[in-house]
Amino acid sequence: MAYKIKIDGKETDAEEGATLLDEALKIGIRIPAICKHPGLGPIGSCRMCVVEIKKDDKSRLATSCNHVIREKDTGMEVFTDSERVISKRREVIEKMRSRWPNVKLLKDLAAQCGAGEPGERHPDADLAFNACIHCGICARICDALGHHAISLADRAAEKTGKTPFCEASKDCVGCAACHRNCPTGAIEMNETGSKRTIWNREFDLIPCSSCGRGLITREQAAFLRTSKGFSEAYFDKCDACKRTDVAGTISRISKW
Ligand code: SF4
Ligand code: FES
Repeated sequence: MAYKIKIDGKETDAEEGATLLDEALKIGIRIPAICKHPGLGPIGSCRMCVVEIKKDDKSRLATSCNHVIREKDTGMEVFTDSERVISKRREVIEKMRSRWPNVKLLKDLAAQCGAGEPGERHPDADLAFNACIHCGICARICDALGHHAISLADRAAEKTGKTPFCEASKDCVGCAACHRNCPTGAIEMNETGSKRTIWNREFDLIPCSSCGRGLITREQAAFLRTSKGFSEAYFDKCDACKRTDVAGTISRISKW
């Protein structure tokens, strides 16, 4: 089922179950978001994605990442940059910046919505450029991949994604999805040739049989083989070399 709604004056047929954030993106309207990752469900914690909803002469603010469109929403009008929305968004980003004043993502979002410099500094302020902003993406992505190796632990200034007791975790397969998807660069990873170090653990990388580049950790390959049915041969070559092979085959075929 699809329901007619309007976002910033543009009419759209929103599929049942779509979120307002996704529906806006579908028609070319980008709503700023921090804790929402495109591959993960919403948690609605940062409140950056706030929008104004008008229906039946009533108006309210709502987070768009976890507002799921249902039949009752038919005819509703959504405003992503009304005065109320902008003012709330500035309030949200100013609070975050008082806690993490040097994080580039927050500075950029503040500039985008015209927020001022943060006033009084939060008692647990973290001045690091790559401070953890508690979005939870690292732990949620680790769970979604089936590893459950990290969680958001501790309180106040110490709170961040961590393995249990900050020790090397047997559940971590070294996939580095947490590192790659952290929006602030808070999760360290080192990679030198055939080794990757993350979360206090060193992993061997399987080399590509063609170019020799480190491909995937042995632990992640084993996990994907046993839980997702990938074949041993799948991890033989990196994607770039596989593409080169395919291009070579196509070029040979086209000369026949
Ligand atoms: S470490 Fe990065 S991904 Fe994890 S909660 Fe902190 S900012 Fe978010
Ligand atoms: S992106 Fe919606 S609350 Fe964080």
